Amino acid sequence: MTMLDAPTLAENLATDAKILARGVTVHYGAKQALNGIDLDIAGNRVTALIGPSGCGKSTFLRCLNRMNDTVAGARVGGMVTLDGEPLYGPGALDPVLLRMRVGMVFQKPNPFPKSIYDNVAFGPRIHGLFARKADLDEAVERALERAGLWHEVKDRLHDRATGLSGGQQQRLCIARAIAVDPEVILMDEPCSALDPIATARVEELIDELRDNFAIVIVTHSMQQAARVSQQTAFFHLGNLVEVGPTERIFTAPEHQLTQGYITGRFG
Ligand SMILES: Nc1ncnc2c1ncn2[C@@H]1O[C@H](COP(=O)(O)OP(=O)(O)OP(=O)(O)O)[C@@H](O)[C@H]1O
Ligand SMILES: [Mg+2]
Repeated sequence: MTMLDAPTLAENLATDAKILARGVTVHYGAKQALNGIDLDIAGNRVTALIGPSGCGKSTFLRCLNRMNDTVAGARVGGMVTLDGEPLYGPGALDPVLLRMRVGMVFQKPNPFPKSIYDNVAFGPRIHGLFARKADLDEAVERALERAGLWHEVKDRLHDRATGLSGGQQQRLCIARAIAVDPEVILMDEPCSALDPIATARVEELIDELRDNFAIVIVTHSMQQAARVSQQTAFFHLGNLVEVGPTERIFTAPEHQLTQGYITGRFG
């Protein structure tokens, strides 16, 4: 773990970014997957991570809630902060509390083999957020409502979540992620298993959620990045090549590599 010295840290923190990454490296054994990434994630915005397969998007996303801790052989270096508090190194945030503040939705909907209700209540229960059943019920309803799923499931809350359609399961996973009121939601290709209608529904939802959360989404769809994000970061071979307002990245990229990728010449 390389830590930046104190003055550099203070300078870097003089921004209003929700999450700040500086010089982030990741190694898997001897192989380096990220070569020092500097990126600010703003609050109330959607940041899209794009780039060819294997360039390090998922690896970087996992640095933001310490999910790489669970990957055997993975080593993270550099600095990541959430509201100025370090995620790694001395005085780091507790990973369990961190993951409550920075939730994650994966590529494949992964509901627990439990009821719809229990899936959404899972996080609030393990963190002991509500003492009274009525309060928990209300939190479950609110999360399902915000995920745009309440009306489809309100009469079957105690049915198994695995009986839902793929698109419904993904919205359930989003409800599960937001039930603990996170500040940031990380989404790794959340629509890749969904049909166009379910995808559109999830995209609408992302747009609504950004009023309350910072969202980071990995996507292989340029159209999706253009539709849902305000900031786009282009990764290539473990490097962050370019980051900027989505509209500029897609209309006037500064870098040849970005231009080549967004116009489909490689990737
Ligand atoms: N658990 C792991 N062990 C070893 N190497 C890994 C591991 N996970 C990822 N890598 C390697 O790190 C690099 C970045 O992988 P990563 O999964 O972050 O790419 P990605 O941009 O998300 O790709 P994709 O678009 O295909 O999902 C790749 O070379 C990959 O092979
Ligand atoms: Mg990936």
